Amino acid sequence: MSSPFAIESTDLSKRYGSEVAVERLDLAVRQGSVYGFLGPNGAGKTTTIRMLATLLRPSGGEAAIDGVPITDRDTVRERIGYLPETPPLYPELTGREQLQYVAGLRDLPDDEATRRIDDLLARFDLDEDADKRVSTYSKGMKQKAGIIQAILHRPRVVFLDEPTSGLDPRAARTVREVISDLAAEETTVFLSTHILPVVDELADTVGVLFNGDLVAEGPPQKLKQRAETGDERSLEDVFLEVTQEADLPEQAAHTESR
Ligand SMILES: Nc1ncnc2c1ncn2[C@@H]1O[C@H](COP(=O)(O)OP(=O)(O)OP(=O)(O)O)[C@@H](O)[C@H]1O
Ligand SMILES: [Mg+2]
Repeated sequence: MSSPFAIESTDLSKRYGSEVAVERLDLAVRQGSVYGFLGPNGAGKTTTIRMLATLLRPSGGEAAIDGVPITDRDTVRERIGYLPETPPLYPELTGREQLQYVAGLRDLPDDEATRRIDDLLARFDLDEDADKRVSTYSKGMKQKAGIIQAILHRPRVVFLDEPTSGLDPRAARTVREVISDLAAEETTVFLSTHILPVVDELADTVGVLFNGDLVAEGPPQKLKQRAETGDERSLEDVFLEVTQEADLPEQAAHTESR
């Protein structure tokens, strides 16, 4: 608990057969900060998040969440919330029942659960559909329910894998506001996304993963500043530059970070 880092990893790796999905990843995410995890399709973002959320066993290395090693799955799971790429929902339940079920698993007192569920349903414009079965929900409605269940129990650390995926502009804004509020309450948010303005606005630190490797890391403002000239470029420019396949073996796309 003495560590200022809510998420720490050392040499965290995942191999699938001979394929390396995540390569010796070192992370140190400050408590209460928002970490924007970027990278092209297939870079290893979801694999990393699944290892940190204790759902996938690493091939090597170690990690700790809120000071607890990920090998202590039960304790880590108590402290985290997780939105996967496809939210796990029971189609036969209504949205409200689904959230009540999750609140029960998380041992939230009934009255607090009711208050928080009502509040979040309203916040995500899902209150009118709360008593319909999840099987009738649109993609975005399922995503909203998934986000609510990830943060319902006020976890210390929240992993959001592409939270704005499938959301309309209003809901996407709500997600951004919710992430801001979480950080203000000292919740650590680890967020993967392809929507660069989201991390530009919210992230204290951005990490760019490329072929399983962290190729750039730092505050968005710092990454956008060109070291040589001092002028500013967009985060998209940075992303494209550091995730370019090198033509020559020597031209590795690594940039110095930190
Ligand atoms: N179960 C699996 N078996 C084999 N290879 C896998 C498996 N899961 C992921 N991979 C591989 O690991 C690599 C990283 O995948 P991952 O899903 O972590 O990428 P990602 O960064 O989340 O991409 P996206 O932006 O498309 O969500 C890819 O090359 C993928 O093919
Ligand atoms: Mg992914």
